[in-house]
Amino acid sequence: MLLPIKNLLNTEQLAHLHTCLAQAEWADGKATAGSQSAAVKFNEQLPEQSQTARELGQLVLQQLGQHALFLSAALPHTIYPPLFNRYTGGQHFGMHIDNALRAIPGTRQLLRTDLSATLFLSDPASYTGGELVIHTELGVREIKLPAGDLLLYPASTLHQVKPVTHGTRLASFMWIQSMVQDTRYREVLFNLDQSIQQLSASLGNNHTNVVELTGVYHNLLRMQMAS
Ligand code: NI
Repeated sequence: MLLPIKNLLNTEQLAHLHTCLAQAEWADGKATAGSQSAAVKFNEQLPEQSQTARELGQLVLQQLGQHALFLSAALPHTIYPPLFNRYTGGQHFGMHIDNALRAIPGTRQLLRTDLSATLFLSDPASYTGGELVIHTELGVREIKLPAGDLLLYPASTLHQVKPVTHGTRLASFMWIQSMVQDTRYREVLFNLDQSIQQLSASLGNNHTNVVELTGVYHNLLRMQMAS
């Protein structure tokens, strides 16, 4: 499932990010790539441990933690500290699959990458190219979202970023270890949760059936939670 999460950041937050990113020092994006993806990765990134990356990353994490649709779809256990990248002058990131495991910087903790997320930060009209191309079971999808929107997609998919031939594409990206490892189960839980939310809106959240279904949801989640 490719799920757009709209308006993760508002206009003021975006403006703040743009100001900070314009003043930041950028480094070669190959620093966080595995050997296969380093060969096809041509972009710039904020160094992971830089003050700007940490502060802006915190802002993104705070927004994710408050976003009901994101929480329902991702069921996050751990989120990798968001990274920031920049493509310009024909830069691109060729076809690759994200590493299955990531060491969280400054810790000994390993994160299993169940989901990948790209947060678009530039107005799509301000750059040419830079589509996120994802190979799904239903074919190839090319995605370019409004600034402030995030795309959530399975980390197991082949994907690439097409060359940015004009303008600059700024984005943030991160990986998520979900409480539910299996994508199929996670999607069933997501669909169930969304249906319950709709029933709750029409019947009230104290309606007996809503309460019972909510219980079913949580009991299914208990069974599927990875240790
Ligand atoms: Ni990737």
